[in-house]
Amino acid sequence: MKGIILAGGLGSRLRPLTKVTNKHLLPIYDKPMIYYPIETLCKAGITDIMLVTGGSSAGDFLRLLGNGRAFGLKDISYTYQEGEGGIADALRLCENFADGERIVVILGDNILEDDITPYVREYERQASGARILLKEVDDPERFGCPQLDGDRIVRIEEKPLVPQSRYAVTGIYMYDLRVFDFCRALKPSARGELEITDINNAYIREGDLYYDILEGWWTDAGQFESLFRANQLVAASRGPVNV
Ligand code: G1P
Repeated sequence: MKGIILAGGLGSRLRPLTKVTNKHLLPIYDKPMIYYPIETLCKAGITDIMLVTGGSSAGDFLRLLGNGRAFGLKDISYTYQEGEGGIADALRLCENFADGERIVVILGDNILEDDITPYVREYERQASGARILLKEVDDPERFGCPQLDGDRIVRIEEKPLVPQSRYAVTGIYMYDLRVFDFCRALKPSARGELEITDINNAYIREGDLYYDILEGWWTDAGQFESLFRANQLVAASRGPVNV
């Protein structure tokens, strides 16, 4: 299983913090944001990683992460996403890297408490398809939100006005090779991006999308409130701080 970290985009929702740097280089408590998804994958034994970045500070990732050995990575590859084509557009750049293996994709601004190893093991036992991770949240309208029928997901809506459940689809996705065919068939959404939600809906149509529910805390860090929350959650997880 190979890992892909998506760390492109212009971080426009975090301006001016992202005016001269990439969102994923901003600090979350005591480390740059990008360290967290790397550690999440590494803990699950995924040590062959592709990092997709973009924008004008792409070179900073190389200076920061180098060959990845300091993180325990076996190998790190880098590629560059032009513009803001969306998550699924970034994924298209990784077909050669995947080279026929299954992939675990993580969005570079997703910070979580859980060790994802058990979910990755479940996915390895799955004959084919996709596996996603859900988390109950107070604001499902900010995310991909699943509609459930019993314990089956029947549809995922991207940022719905009227959410059909209390769950967010987190930015951790496990896919087989078909993901690249689905990517090729996508059309841009209303926000002009190739949406990961459309990929997940394609797997649902094939009856081949499964999920787990995260137990520990989870947050994205793409807006001021969630960036602040991510800092608070990580700080709190390190124990009491004297001020
Ligand atoms: C993206 C996905 C969304 C998912 C979220 C998780 O949203 O489109 O489905 O729930 O990441 O962080 P974005 O950060 O692009 O708004």
